[in-house]
Amino acid sequence: MPSPLLLAAARSERMRDLVTSVPLTRGVVDRFVAGNDLEAALGAARKLGREGLEVTLDHLGEHTREAAQAQATRDAYLRLFEAFAEHGLAAGADASVKLSALGQALPGELALDLAQEICAAAGRAGMTVTLDMEDHTTVDSTLEILGKLRGDFPWAGVAVQAMLRRSAGDLRDLARDGSRVRLVKGAYAEPPSVAFQSRHDVDRAYVRGLRLLMEGDGYPMVASHDPRIIEIALALAAARPPASYEFQMLYGVRAAEQRRLAETDRMRVYVPYGADWYGYFMRRLAERPANLVFFLRSFVSR
Ligand code: FDA
Repeated sequence: MPSPLLLAAARSERMRDLVTSVPLTRGVVDRFVAGNDLEAALGAARKLGREGLEVTLDHLGEHTREAAQAQATRDAYLRLFEAFAEHGLAAGADASVKLSALGQALPGELALDLAQEICAAAGRAGMTVTLDMEDHTTVDSTLEILGKLRGDFPWAGVAVQAMLRRSAGDLRDLARDGSRVRLVKGAYAEPPSVAFQSRHDVDRAYVRGLRLLMEGDGYPMVASHDPRIIEIALALAAARPPASYEFQMLYGVRAAEQRRLAETDRMRVYVPYGADWYGYFMRRLAERPANLVFFLRSFVSR
């Protein structure tokens, strides 16, 4: 399971200052993040598109505490949609949005209002939007906002974390009417009261969730790099019409496998871009000890 220490570091301001101030970090970050700006996102989407891979773009940022910052995040997504439309990259592309970056923790309905503006602009460009799922305290609010968005934008999707005990119920509610649901294992440190703790239990919960999605009439998005999960998903998907589901993986993780799956199935790559990469990057390190070794070695080898 993800390293709790690194996940705690992902939320620490002091660690953020330390890690982001070291110039060498950048080389390692580049493996997981397309770059600092929109140009980098366009470049990555173009390159992946040439390889038959679809994309979901994530403008990096989370835990916004100021309305102005949340509005700036909205503006970044609006610029993304405009640029993708202008460059002929919008058709079929998706944007991943963290509601915490839109002020979900602030009083009032700012996050909903901004998410509505984002969805309206995405729809005009011919793109879709998927809400990322963050720590368990945000799930009710995220699903409530999703429900409101889906009134006007039925293609609005959401990530569901298999590790959360509540997720089987959420998946049952969501797996209908073509609803786009991205099943992930879960990348946050959660207490045993709300989440399965062992890899084995999370994997089993993932497979149960996968079954619910594949047997329902939503649009399953299988977001995992786990070879066993992918095998099971392919077996379950055999009973579904082609293109009624897709696979998703993260930028920089198992790239050869991404291309292999794209030969037979829809395969979408989650492409993060932007300057605020710290939290995202630390969660990637936490998922895999080898990434941490790779990161630390970049200091030692100088
Ligand atoms: P697992 O962690 O068991 O990894 C299986 C294998 O994949 C590893 O053995 C390794 O080979 C490879 N691998 C996995 N992670 C790696 C990494 N970081 N670096 C290198 N290799 C790696 N989470 C969340 O809580 N909310 C969300 O909204 C999302 N959104 C999301 C979108 C997409 C498209 C993906 C693919 C994932 C997410 N996640 C997420 C993250 C997810 O919860 C989970 O932490 C990671 O996908 C890792 O879990 P796996 O299913 O890949 O299995």
